[in-house]
Amino acid sequence: MNTLMRLSPQLHHWRTYCIKQCAAAGTEAAARGKPNYEEFIDSRQQQAQRSIVVQVSSEKSYNELYNYCSRFGRIVTVQHYSVQHEDELHYMLLEYASAGEASAAISSSAYNAELSGSGVPVRSPFLWFRAPTGGAGRRGQAKLAANQKTLALHTVNGTRSLSHEALKELLRGAAGIDQQLNLLYEQTRLNELGVRMRFIAALQVEQAISGMFPDALAQPFGSSVNGFGKMGCDLDLILRFDGKTPGTDQDSQREASRLIYHTKENLSNGRSQTQRQMECIGDMLHLFLPGVCHVRRILQARVPIIKYHHEHLDLEIDLSMSNLTGFFMSELLYMFGEMDPRVRPLTFCVRRWAQSCGLTNPSPGRWITNFSLTCLVMFFLQQMRQPILPSIGAMVKAANTADIRVTEDGINCTFARDMERVRFQSRNTSSLSELLLQFFEFYSQFDFHNRAISLNEGRALAKPDHSAMYIVNPLEQLLNVSKNVSLEECERLRIEVRNAAWMLESEVENATLSESERREQSWGLLNLFKHPEKSVIRPNMFFKPRMVEVSDLFDKSQTSAPTPPPVNYKNST
Ligand code: CTP
Ligand code: MG
Repeated sequence: MNTLMRLSPQLHHWRTYCIKQCAAAGTEAAARGKPNYEEFIDSRQQQAQRSIVVQVSSEKSYNELYNYCSRFGRIVTVQHYSVQHEDELHYMLLEYASAGEASAAISSSAYNAELSGSGVPVRSPFLWFRAPTGGAGRRGQAKLAANQKTLALHTVNGTRSLSHEALKELLRGAAGIDQQLNLLYEQTRLNELGVRMRFIAALQVEQAISGMFPDALAQPFGSSVNGFGKMGCDLDLILRFDGKTPGTDQDSQREASRLIYHTKENLSNGRSQTQRQMECIGDMLHLFLPGVCHVRRILQARVPIIKYHHEHLDLEIDLSMSNLTGFFMSELLYMFGEMDPRVRPLTFCVRRWAQSCGLTNPSPGRWITNFSLTCLVMFFLQQMRQPILPSIGAMVKAANTADIRVTEDGINCTFARDMERVRFQSRNTSSLSELLLQFFEFYSQFDFHNRAISLNEGRALAKPDHSAMYIVNPLEQLLNVSKNVSLEECERLRIEVRNAAWMLESEVENATLSESERREQSWGLLNLFKHPEKSVIRPNMFFKPRMVEVSDLFDKSQTSAPTPPPVNYKNST
């Protein structure tokens, strides 16, 4: 019996009911033409099931591969990408018209101890295309000549982001700051291939364990799916042994079956059981799954994770088994991003700016995370006189029974999934550059010392504890999303937003450069992203015109304060 049923059979049936309701609501949304989050996830999962990834010697293998693989079914798209290893490794991502055809291609694959490096044969969507052998090879070549019809091949820079220089060039050529903001978003966001790769990585884990765990589901969440991910972002993955939702007829029959799987009793408490299961899954990934390398277990964190690298996808993956609220939080962010076309470009710019002035850092610690920064942007857009986003509270109020979602540990993640029911219409007509300036000005003046940020209410509340920065976790409201942020880092943020407001204001005022001057010098966002040697408080209309170095400020306020220990970001709620 699965964990959920053990907790409460009613809850299990309720969940089944909700999922069916939700499917019905999804169909409604599809009729309106815009996929909701669950439909988006579902369609990407199905696309992954129709796909295989084949390593080839170079893109020149394309025609041969296309013709060979066409024997298993109709290929609908092919994308070529390369990964820099010791040499450049080339891959083709092939999508068939149906999952059965992709499965037939995988089933036809041979095991060759010599070529496969004597590894254990494992069924996965990752394959090799070997050189033709003997007579069969010659026959294959002859057939190829007679059958040259192929699809157009898309070569995609699938794994790498635009170089800093290329981006600079691009932004210089823009017509104004607003266009720079849109270009930054368009050119740095996760591309189509990046999304496909992430769903294939999830499917690989799911399929690898499906024999033993028939209801296992590996679901991507976080920036890979919420629309706020940039090229090269990590994949956050949640693996649930009882995650498959009943949808097909066969599943419905299973639901009604009088025969129930015998299962093993849990031997220890929930958390250590999850840790042991994760340890075991980590070993399995490490020992058997093609492409998986550098497996690291971080099992003591609040949300234990297994980190690994996928060398065929050039991708970092964080796998967890107990963080369903992260999945629903991603849905909230996805919805916010869909509500207004300014939300994502603005967030991308704020994240890039924070990275360029060292406020964020890829390693976990006492600095602000991208997720917290994203919450700051969402909150800013909620609290405006003419809000651009509704509060989460308003979305909860508008929810109906089809929206009910409760995680296995009882956390209520219910909110309206259909924006028409929320009836929120923004009358705010500010341009992106105006919003960016207002964002910096808003946080220049925000009272982090006394106030907490609540996306649920869309307004600031009294701070419930002494954390330097307090962002109420929208789905687990007793937790602070930015608990890891130290006082120094919070101060640094305040200084950097002031600097940015000052800088952007002068950029807007000086927006009279000729076209040739624009091409030759840095302007607009490029000046915002310039990394200053030392952060300095600059004079502006809000603050005392006094030049203070960040180090002065820390020395005064922090002399006797102990340095907080490094905090794992997964530990930070
Ligand atoms: N999350 C959360 N509460 C936190 C941290 C994370 O709910 N305190 C959820 C959010 O849905 C977040 C996801 O977990 O989007 C993944 O977290 P993380 O990888 O830290 O953030 P991303 O949004 O994926 O951003 P990045 O591109 O930096 O990975
Ligand atoms: Mg992430």
